[in-house]
Amino acid sequence: MSSSTLQLESRIVLPELGKVLVRELRRPEDVEAYLRFGAAISVDDLRMRFAAPTKWTPALARRMLTLAGTAFAAFGEDGEILGVGRLVGNEIALAVRSKLKRRGLGRVLLERIVHHASEHGMAEITGTALAENRPMLALAQAAGFRMTGAEGPMVSGRLCLPRKPPHIRDFTVDSRFRLVSNALQDAALGSLGRRDQTEFT
Ligand SMILES: CC(C)(COP(=O)(O)OP(=O)(O)OC[C@H]1O[C@@H](n2cnc3c(N)ncnc32)[C@H](O)[C@@H]1OP(=O)(O)O)[C@@H](O)C(=O)NCCC(=O)NCCS
Repeated sequence: MSSSTLQLESRIVLPELGKVLVRELRRPEDVEAYLRFGAAISVDDLRMRFAAPTKWTPALARRMLTLAGTAFAAFGEDGEILGVGRLVGNEIALAVRSKLKRRGLGRVLLERIVHHASEHGMAEITGTALAENRPMLALAQAAGFRMTGAEGPMVSGRLCLPRKPPHIRDFTVDSRFRLVSNALQDAALGSLGRRDQTEFT
């Protein structure tokens, strides 16, 4: 997956799915696609996602779209949503169309969330899942999560994130601003000659 700290969208190719676009889920036109996405998640996968029996309804979809935090969606070439990864606080949640599981979407979305959290200076991300949710636990483990506890039917895990690069530590607003900020810094570094970047932190 090609990525850069400045990208708002990433385009990737997954062997079994072809071209996939990953971007934030927040455009008005995403609502209808999100409704269709939820309808393509099986009853059991919805239960895994919400850790309780859950019916997908337009009301639930609209509520999910107004949640605080950041959601990334993977879109297929036809514009349909294939999977969604969400970060609320430092807690992650993932869901992939049931017929498209085990094709790499969960990993891609998790990587996008990790990248986003790192960029925003977060020290760790966490997740909880039903202990019976083997796919999610396997994905989390593969991504380096450490299991931190169990309570009732749930288990929790944590992934510590690397520190943000020092030269962008002071820039906490959106990526477009960082693009300008970093370009200005690069220009400043160039015009002032080589300097230790810690001078800019
Ligand atoms: C959990 C979930 C998001 C994983 O997404 P996915 O697209 O199927 O996962 P990926 O194809 O990216 O798999 C990445 C890795 O995770 C692990 N993994 C995923 N599914 C697995 C399974 N059924 N069994 C064992 N390992 C599995 C593997 O290590 C896999 O790598 P590999 O295929 O190279 O072996 C998906 O199963 C899902 O949407 N489940 C229903 C909702 C849910 O449970 N959400 C999590 C609650 S927060």
